[in-house]
Amino acid sequence: MNIFENNPIVPIQQIKFPGNNIPVNVFMKRDDLTDIFISGNKFYKLKYNILYALENNINRLISFGGAYSNHIHAFSYACKLFGFEGIGIIRGELTYPINPTLKFAAQNGMKIEYVPRSEYRLKHTDEFKAKLKEKYGEFFYVPEGGSNKLAIKGAAEILDNIDIDYDYIALAAGTGGTAAGIISSLRGEKFIYVFPVLKGAEFLRGEINNFVNLHSSSSYNNFDLIKDYHFGGYAKTKPELLAFIEEFYKLNEIQLDPVYTGKMMFGLNESIKSGFIPEGKTVLAIHTGGLQGIEGMNHRLDNRKINYF
Ligand SMILES: Cc1ncc(COP(=O)(O)O)c(C=O)c1O
Repeated sequence: MNIFENNPIVPIQQIKFPGNNIPVNVFMKRDDLTDIFISGNKFYKLKYNILYALENNINRLISFGGAYSNHIHAFSYACKLFGFEGIGIIRGELTYPINPTLKFAAQNGMKIEYVPRSEYRLKHTDEFKAKLKEKYGEFFYVPEGGSNKLAIKGAAEILDNIDIDYDYIALAAGTGGTAAGIISSLRGEKFIYVFPVLKGAEFLRGEINNFVNLHSSSSYNNFDLIKDYHFGGYAKTKPELLAFIEEFYKLNEIQLDPVYTGKMMFGLNESIKSGFIPEGKTVLAIHTGGLQGIEGMNHRLDNRKINYF
């Protein structure tokens, strides 16, 4: 059966926050439960890319990511599942031992090519693509993080079948593609708080608008970036973030990843405590997955590991 035939129905769970008694209702859409391997926003971002490749008899897909990329993890599995040749262009050098994300990708038959950072920055250029074509032959190009027009179309389905009423959406953003899908599907209704996980995300508002316009002929202003919870930058952590993730698990039995959803939920909790999100309102937070990255993060954290117990 094609897993993309129907969008998964996942629980919407009421959330308790550590040390926060302010009466704001928070629910979480458990998209970490969409699929074991194609989980969270990856299900929606890959859906129409995979269906497009199937319909157009494409047999080779190339995509891009960092060494711990959730996208590469899910992409490699989707390629295996649908019988595509998957090629992953990975930012940086090959290091040993191979981390769990890339080990999984290799086990799925993905061909992995490491590209120095300086060259990786040019991945979207015609010259770079021409080199790839020379080396591998014809392929379908799926950008880093999977964010293209087909991904936005998929992300616009994340809020289908929601049966609770809410005032705000909260979600984490990297490229902003997922946020753009959600914003375009809401057509100006509700308000969306986007939590960038990168430092210096001023560019993200414009990026999100561009992504929205790939899918929708209208533009929307009903979203804002909450930029204070990047914890030093992409994949950077601090002890208070890790402690929050562990406390959150004890209260809710939901794992959060330290790179995306952990930062978003930390920031949401702070935004409620400070009164930025007013009492009596209801927030629907989106769990965009990324749990595969916890093992890799624990590898890098040496002594201070994330424990769920
Ligand atoms: C777990 C998780 N959440 C959120 C995001 C952010 O998605 P986007 O790049 O569409 O903003 C990503 C990145 O791809 C991710 O892996």
